[in-house]
Amino acid sequence: MCGIMGYVGKNDATQVILNGLAKQEYRGYDSAGLALRFDDSIKNIKIVGRVSELKKLVEASDFGGAVPASGMGHTRWATHGGVNVTNAHPHESADGNIVLLHNGIIENAREIRVKLEAEGVVFASDTDTESACQLLAKLYHGGDALPAMTKLCDSLTGAFAFVILIRDRPGEIWCARKGSPLVVAHDGGASYCASDPTALLDYTHDLFFMEEGEIARLTEDGCGFFGFDGSPREKQSIFLQWDSVMADKGHYEHFMRKEIDEQPDVLRLTIEAHTDITSVDMEKTLKLPPGLMSRISRVQFVACGTSYYAALTACNLMESLDDTLNVRADVASEYRYRNIGRGDDTLAIFISQSGETADTLSAARIAKSKGVHRIAITNVRGSTLDREVDHSLLSLAGPEIGVAATKTFTAQVALLSILVLQLLKLRGALSTTDEARLIGGLRSIPTKQQAILARDLDIKALAEKYADSKGFFFIGRRENVPLTLEGALKLKEIAYLPSEAYAAGEMKHGPIAMLDEKLTVVAIVPQNDLREKMLSNVAECRARNAPIILLATDGDDGVKAIGNDVIFVPATEKELFPLLGVVPLQLFAYHVAKTLGRDIDMPRNLAKSVTVE
Ligand code: F6R
Repeated sequence: MCGIMGYVGKNDATQVILNGLAKQEYRGYDSAGLALRFDDSIKNIKIVGRVSELKKLVEASDFGGAVPASGMGHTRWATHGGVNVTNAHPHESADGNIVLLHNGIIENAREIRVKLEAEGVVFASDTDTESACQLLAKLYHGGDALPAMTKLCDSLTGAFAFVILIRDRPGEIWCARKGSPLVVAHDGGASYCASDPTALLDYTHDLFFMEEGEIARLTEDGCGFFGFDGSPREKQSIFLQWDSVMADKGHYEHFMRKEIDEQPDVLRLTIEAHTDITSVDMEKTLKLPPGLMSRISRVQFVACGTSYYAALTACNLMESLDDTLNVRADVASEYRYRNIGRGDDTLAIFISQSGETADTLSAARIAKSKGVHRIAITNVRGSTLDREVDHSLLSLAGPEIGVAATKTFTAQVALLSILVLQLLKLRGALSTTDEARLIGGLRSIPTKQQAILARDLDIKALAEKYADSKGFFFIGRRENVPLTLEGALKLKEIAYLPSEAYAAGEMKHGPIAMLDEKLTVVAIVPQNDLREKMLSNVAECRARNAPIILLATDGDDGVKAIGNDVIFVPATEKELFPLLGVVPLQLFAYHVAKTLGRDIDMPRNLAKSVTVE
């Protein structure tokens, strides 16, 4: 939550900061602000609204011809305090010495505020952040700021990524990290910091990912790192291979649409990196301790949101292939309340696009405290999850900017499927027939996805036809239940329409009461062993006058008479259907949202990276 950008160097900081904020706006977009440092002053400009409006205001401001050589900016996703200009970041201390912006939540903010107010400090905003800003002003007495920074970090509980300008320390930016992501870089004549690596790729690919409990001092000459005890730290940079063009919209109207189209290429990359023609090949990418998979009796897939639906898909696949394992999938925020087991017979697999989701990180830390063996799947090399687990695999989807996850979901499902096969193979629980069948199936998915993308105009026409539905029910069975959840989530997120997902057999146990001619049912009915059961469930919905859209297999013309409309997709192995079925559901949600005039890449109330619990 919240996007941060900082710059200190020789060039005009204004454009660097605005550019960095625009690239991270998907992290939060309630309000935006920036602080620019001039020789003898710091100008703080804030608005309620988008970065484009901030840009207009900054460009209309007259700085008397002066050019700021350092500064910082912020896009906010409100936690404490309403959405207004006063609560927007950066915040300034009452004495004007400290200007600070923050991503995270300070849990002891109230306590600090009460104490400082009793000492006469006047607060301007309702935010938790201002407590940190006013406290630093009290702790800093001039000269080197490191002692005040260490005391500040020690005094706070909760999560923070701070970027700070100090009035009498020109040419310096201070950063600190605990719980919220912050990445730092130096490219010769300038230093940068940001919440998200994509904001820095225009300048450099050599990045320093700040660790928990770290402080950084940035100048145009370089970056110095310290622990919260003030001791200096040596850090190695990580080279991020992403191309800045990958984070560009190109000719597309929305990032989400571009990212949907990128799926065949992303899957080709992912699948070819870990498979041979007929077998899994993770020897080089995943080095597990010898004998681990024979000892394991429990496997837990843990994630949030769309990544959780990828987890459910992997859980179904693993369970279907090995009945000797206890396999389950958990929502990360609930994992902590379960007795997850202890010791090295348990393997937990954490899935997170960003690698920064607070709930997933907490779950992974709990698993560590119980001696559980941990693997992660993330899309961001250098992210916290990537660095903290025992083994990490990258989903190779490239930067995803649209708030609604699309290509990262299919990349996760493909990589998880390969991982499941590899783990079962190591356990001696995978037959060569299943291995060849599923790997062959996986390798044909990108071409089949292309065929679905070519049907976009038909899906668009359907979306326009059904956009005035009062809601949607998605129904499916077995491996397609997670697919119904993902289809419904896409519509909720970007079209703001009530949309629910059910295991088809559950409909008649309650939800069917809601059906009428304005509530559309989307039924997942591929040509598999469950087709007839699904069609019976569809008939039950039809009898209640609900309009029906079917997702069916190419050539299964028999279903045409049963639904009002059918979206056909190519045939595939039953376990792999979600990798195809999700593409039309993404396109459908996209076109419904577009028909309704929604803000597709930045839907209301959401943020891409959820770094608070
Ligand atoms: C849905 C979506 C979210 C994320 C969830 C987890 O389109 O994007 O539900 O899937 O917030 O995020 P990561 O995968 O970064 O942990």
